[in-house]
Amino acid sequence: MNPSAVDELTLGDYLPRFESFHAQVANGLMRRPKMLPAKFLYDKTGSELFERICGLREYYPTRTEMGILSRYAGELADLCGPQCMLIELGSGSSTKTRMLLDRLCEPAAYVPVDISREQLIEAAASLCGDYGPLEIIPVCADYTDGLRTPATRRAARKTIVFFPGSTIGNFEPDEAMRFLRGYAHGGGCDAMIVGVDLRKPRSVLEPAYNDAAGVTAAFNLNLLRRINRELGADFALGRFYHRAIYNEHAGRIEMHLVSRTEQAVRLGRTRIMFEPGEPITTEHSYKYTLAGFANLAVCAGFEVGRVWTDPRQWFSVFYLKR
Ligand code: AVI
Repeated sequence: MNPSAVDELTLGDYLPRFESFHAQVANGLMRRPKMLPAKFLYDKTGSELFERICGLREYYPTRTEMGILSRYAGELADLCGPQCMLIELGSGSSTKTRMLLDRLCEPAAYVPVDISREQLIEAAASLCGDYGPLEIIPVCADYTDGLRTPATRRAARKTIVFFPGSTIGNFEPDEAMRFLRGYAHGGGCDAMIVGVDLRKPRSVLEPAYNDAAGVTAAFNLNLLRRINRELGADFALGRFYHRAIYNEHAGRIEMHLVSRTEQAVRLGRTRIMFEPGEPITTEHSYKYTLAGFANLAVCAGFEVGRVWTDPRQWFSVFYLKR
């Protein structure tokens, strides 16, 4: 790593404040059925556990998407054109980005955006060392709130928003539509590259979210640990268990934390009651058909430029043009 390049990193910090976390958790636990926003799964430990999930034998999305990206990175780079600015939403460790950055022609800047500050800084610092003159502008933000395009030293010919990993699947379909619309109609984006997980048999989907080593369970339960630590709640982790089921009708994996017993949990001055077997929904992960996602993108105002898939059609990468 080049230390002087790292010194030049300037972090755009727009992380939501404590009040917002508290309010969203309190509201979610007061609802029936109870739910917690999936974006809060990603504190430092959650982000590390998610990185481990990506490498699990059962969790096919990461390696399938990487296969598609490595195979078609040249075509993607041609579509992006020279001197583009690449904005990556939910950049995590930026592993997939390297495949694109390696092929892009003189990119003007790379803007990784993530809610997990530590991981963002680490990943940006490591890229600084490997991609010398490239301007890297890490932005710590909840990108579901919208995004301002940062100013770059070199003018970019195109702004490309890269949203891999099928994180779009963690939005409800109406949220996904609003989110895509924001980029299709806002000024700061010329094209989007979106990773989209596809429908497949339950026998593949459920093990991917209920891995034998229990990493996904730890990732899910870590949310309660985070709420205890940051909001002073008293969840007893042993009194909840992880469950992930495929709801075929809705075309989504539903991830829950299920109360083992009747119990009361304190969140500040509020007492939250749980029935035995009562779930908190912590994540939905929608699986699309190719036609279904193309339709969503077109309704949002994009034109589908290209779609790539793997031979089993388990995962897809869409290039959407404004
Ligand atoms: C980030 N996101 C696309 C993952 C998914 O597959 O929905 C999150 C995840 N949850 C459990 N395992 C992975």
